[in-house]
Amino acid sequence: MQYQSPFENWYTYSTVHKPLPDFTCEPGLVLFPPELVPGVGHPLIDKLGNDATRRLTMRKLESYNAFTEKLEYKAVMAASIKIAQDPQAFGLSEQAGREARLIVTDESHHAYVAIELIKQIPGFSELPPLTATQPRFLRGLEELERGLPTELADDLLIAFVSISETLITSILRGIPRDPRVVSAVRNTVRDHCIDEARHHSYFVYVVHQHWASNTPDRREILGPLYAKLIRLFLDPDLDLCRGWLLEAGLDARDAGLVLQDYYSHERVAASVRADSFPTLKLMERVGVLEHPAARPAFVEQKLID
Ligand SMILES: [Fe+2]
Ligand SMILES: [Fe+2]
Repeated sequence: MQYQSPFENWYTYSTVHKPLPDFTCEPGLVLFPPELVPGVGHPLIDKLGNDATRRLTMRKLESYNAFTEKLEYKAVMAASIKIAQDPQAFGLSEQAGREARLIVTDESHHAYVAIELIKQIPGFSELPPLTATQPRFLRGLEELERGLPTELADDLLIAFVSISETLITSILRGIPRDPRVVSAVRNTVRDHCIDEARHHSYFVYVVHQHWASNTPDRREILGPLYAKLIRLFLDPDLDLCRGWLLEAGLDARDAGLVLQDYYSHERVAASVRADSFPTLKLMERVGVLEHPAARPAFVEQKLID
């Protein structure tokens, strides 16, 4: 696939060249769409009163921003630096390698804004810190890496980032236009979306080239890996949510019930399929889904029938 730079107007449109978003938090508006916060609206949480709902919503926003920061630093920037330093190793053009540095800059700015947003929101400084755990995706990546030949470690990271950069999650899609949500959050997510549209085109090219440039025996490994990486990126972090529900005042049994209702197998499977739709189409276009080792893995991960 020919590289067509999505960065021609980078100095005009990238959000790193703009002032920080307006961080206004209007009283009466929510910090996050309620249906995206596990437990909110559930009768067991309603019984606990408004404080429980507000606390859960704050935890959700906090974790969304902490996730953004870690994803940018530990995955997207790390992968983009590898691409910048050796584009040929992944079948990429010299220009694509040079421009990977612009992604490093964009992502570093996204991490900065994510943390600034949290600091600006009233009440966050009084939130007690939750026990810091490594994000689920990092634990999953480490586990997958242990099962792979050492020379595929960089390919694993590039494949994971290609997946995460081509997925359009329901969060990024809906929040900027959601009038229930405070301006601070809507503006921050909108700015992030503007840059991510460019990254999406870039990583479509990366997926094409990375797959096409790999040897048949590496494709045997890479194909099924894509399916696992989609689930790794989109599956909920149940332990983290359980911690919020316990903190909000539920006992362990009720927290388990709320999680079962909110994250039922059917509901998770449906939202993973909806969110991964553009990436699954890309997998089809690139030829990954035709590969005899890859297709069964996508079926097993319940991404296709
Ligand atoms: Fe980003
Ligand atoms: Fe990105």
